[in-house]
Amino acid sequence: MKHIIDELERRREIARLGGGEARIAAQHKRGKLTARERIELLLDEGSFEEFDMYVEHRSTDFGMEKTKIPGDGVVTGWGTINGRVVYLFAKDFTVFGGSLSETHAKKIMKIQDMALTNRAPIIGLFDAGGARIQEGVAALGGYGEVFLRNVLASGVIPQISVIMGPCAGGDVYSPAMTDFIFMVRDTSYMFVTGPDVVKTVTNETVTAEELGGASIHTTKSSIADRGYDNDVEALLQMRRLMDFLPANNTSGVPVLPSCDPFDRSEPSLDTLIPDNPNKPYDIKELILKVVDEADFFEIQESFAKNIVVGFARMEGRTVGIVANQPMVLAGVLDSDASRKAARFVRFCDCFEIPIVTFVDVPGFLPGTAQEYGGLIKHGAKLLFAYSEATVPKITLITRKAYGGAYDVMSSKHIRGDVNYAWPSAEIAVMGAKGAVEILYRAELGDPEKIKARIDEYQKRFANPFVAAERGYIDEVILPRNTRRRICRALNMLQNKQAENPWKKHDNIPL
Ligand code: HXC
Repeated sequence: MKHIIDELERRREIARLGGGEARIAAQHKRGKLTARERIELLLDEGSFEEFDMYVEHRSTDFGMEKTKIPGDGVVTGWGTINGRVVYLFAKDFTVFGGSLSETHAKKIMKIQDMALTNRAPIIGLFDAGGARIQEGVAALGGYGEVFLRNVLASGVIPQISVIMGPCAGGDVYSPAMTDFIFMVRDTSYMFVTGPDVVKTVTNETVTAEELGGASIHTTKSSIADRGYDNDVEALLQMRRLMDFLPANNTSGVPVLPSCDPFDRSEPSLDTLIPDNPNKPYDIKELILKVVDEADFFEIQESFAKNIVVGFARMEGRTVGIVANQPMVLAGVLDSDASRKAARFVRFCDCFEIPIVTFVDVPGFLPGTAQEYGGLIKHGAKLLFAYSEATVPKITLITRKAYGGAYDVMSSKHIRGDVNYAWPSAEIAVMGAKGAVEILYRAELGDPEKIKARIDEYQKRFANPFVAAERGYIDEVILPRNTRRRICRALNMLQNKQAENPWKKHDNIPL
């Protein structure tokens, strides 16, 4: 028996070495961990159960039959994160650059199928060059089947992609169909085709970082939801993120013990809104002061900063936060902010995560750049997302809620469940100055008259009571009591049941 056990150990040893000592050293030299080192950091200690460690490719083209490496460039299996089951696959860049062969694809599909059948999240750690070039259509077919599974699992189980090395082809398209993408700064890249192909086709000279580094994808393209400084930070933050996410679309949000009293009063919020209506304040201060233990996991913090989205907890239960940010472009809604928030709202709605919306919005951003860029369609995405969402929706207007943006930002009219306003709220078609300039154009030459008109408009609309008189605002609350009011409302809404009419799926303006 001993020799049989020794043989098993020997096989395991070989598989664990992946592409060999030299390639592992090269991986470390680039500041990257190996696939197995990453898994160890991501999962609870000793919880990883590996599958298909001995799988090898079956290709015989280009002398491939002479280079078979057990595991075939991807480490797959399941484990736990803070005791909750997750499925995962980690690309092994030391084996054929982590590229995907027919058998490598089968390993990933097995894990995707298990995650979906057993309704638990799946995490992919990517460090790979796409379809294995030597395998041709067999590899392309493999990717097609991985993509299909990404789509079928979408909205059923959370799918997370972490980009931890140079990624191309299928290794960017599969992540693109998952819920969130995270990148490691300076060592990870995402592009459909790399700098060499770009040079050949378009004659552009561009570095990998300029083409698809974390700096580009977290600020310009918005492909990535956050960047981290190194592998360790990224993986530890993924553990933190998973604590916010439900296992699937019917499990309900996880409940963590919280030491933060639900009725904690926050008197400093009474003076958060500056006296001058044009002076900004930081909406993140409100978020941090209201949520459990100031713990906020922000999504896309470096893109469209005029809107803030992310996960937090109220009384230990996950909520999605959406908030206009007066510090950036006065919190205006533009195309980027609308797309960013719409995708987040839809994620929350898929996974039954209640949405808390903080509103301080002067409207949609005017101008040719926005109109030519499709503001109508992008703004409609957010309107659509909030309107179709059936999860509990709590809205608080802190200051401005002007124009169409008032309707869009989870208003009563599109099924906001509980709509609060602070006494400082102003709900109107537009700001007083703009309104008067349109209504009283003939009087523009008379500053006295115009000032009186502005004062009159302000008195009429620069308060929450016109909306409250109509029931569009359920209650005007004291800022210091915001946490208590939201916690109580969320509790009241815990058994909410709302349905949309039957349809195959809707037709959100993409
Ligand atoms: C087979 C590959 C490979 C691939 C890399 N390798 N990509 N082997 N198929 N797709 C191998 C290399 O030969 C090398 O082997 C090792 O992995 C490391 O690669 P390097 O090039 O030395 O590393 P680096 O300089 O860091 O560059 C990484 C890279 C680059 C940017 C990923 O290798 C690259 O551009 N690869 C090709 C990307 C690509 O075009 N893939 C096909 C996409 S099509 P040795 O033996 O030297 O260690 C696709 C279809 C899906 O994916 C459908 C999409 C819709």
